[in-house]
Amino acid sequence: MTLAELENAKAESLKEIAAAADAAAIEALRVKYVGRNGSIPALIKAMKDVPKEERPAFGKAVQAWRAEVEAALAAKGGGAGPSEKEVDADLTLPGRWWGLGVKHPLSRVIEESAAIFARLGFTVADGPELENRFNNFTALNTPEHHPSQDRTDTFWFGEDCLLRTQTSPVQIRTMMENKPPIRVICPGRTYRRDTTDATHSANFHQIEGLYVDTKPVSLADLKSVLAYFAKEMMGDGVTVRFRPHFFPFTEPSVEVDFTCHVCKGKGCNVCKQSGWIEVAGAGMVDPRVFGHVGYDAEKVSGYAFGFGVERIAMIKYGIPDIRWLYENDVRFLNQLG
Ligand code: DAH
Repeated sequence: MTLAELENAKAESLKEIAAAADAAAIEALRVKYVGRNGSIPALIKAMKDVPKEERPAFGKAVQAWRAEVEAALAAKGGGAGPSEKEVDADLTLPGRWWGLGVKHPLSRVIEESAAIFARLGFTVADGPELENRFNNFTALNTPEHHPSQDRTDTFWFGEDCLLRTQTSPVQIRTMMENKPPIRVICPGRTYRRDTTDATHSANFHQIEGLYVDTKPVSLADLKSVLAYFAKEMMGDGVTVRFRPHFFPFTEPSVEVDFTCHVCKGKGCNVCKQSGWIEVAGAGMVDPRVFGHVGYDAEKVSGYAFGFGVERIAMIKYGIPDIRWLYENDVRFLNQLG
């Protein structure tokens, strides 16, 4: 376009604007001349093809055209059109997608457990992470000389304040505040002075369970509830095994194994060839514990259990190192979403 042609085009455009009858016509002219793909921006883009010596004059003329068109549009109520920034923004582009977060595997195990036990009539009870000696140890029949009371195992804050080493103190709180029948699970954070490695962490999670009733409660009830839980959590075909054990607050006490969900009990790397995976401690509530919470041990009976949440998450999702659960690496977490 020569300078003369430009002047003609300018005169033409101003005539068109002057003749525009309504807002739609004004907007159409704005788009035609100064819109993103309008003729004036096109001329500015084409400036590099104008011979160098003519460029300053040509540039000036284009800018003057633009200013006059914008002024003419504004005079007709069309405004100067969107700002340069707005013209550059393509509003038809899709928005930025950051992706949905996923639930942490520990939260998923806790929430799934609560849902499974809810179907069996268990509600969720809660307790503080800072406990006293009575709830965490004494009422659970754990004598002063027991190693778990030791300063090397427990985080103590003075004589009677500690970070709970287990969720079992919630059993005590629940029984002191309620009368039987009681059916609760208590998920939560627990603390021990462990050095962190692939299978240990100073801070971990447990899910406590407690059933107390005035009707007789037996070890068979405990086993059936845990077998149901195992199947719901790990899938069909998982069975439960009890091994004799000792806990101060249950008698008899057992350790609970699930058949390995990977090899179905045949033996593989996950279960160290044994076919079984240890997941919980459990037993019949010791009559002395009932005594500590003011229950008549002649009239009530019950069972209790305590699962390691990390344990279940690690075997359910095939996580080889407990530390991965605490590093908040989204590359790891997203895989479990
Ligand atoms: N509190 C025990 C622990 O941390 C686990 C446990 C064992 C809980 C037996 C129970 C139980 O409720 O009956 O090792």
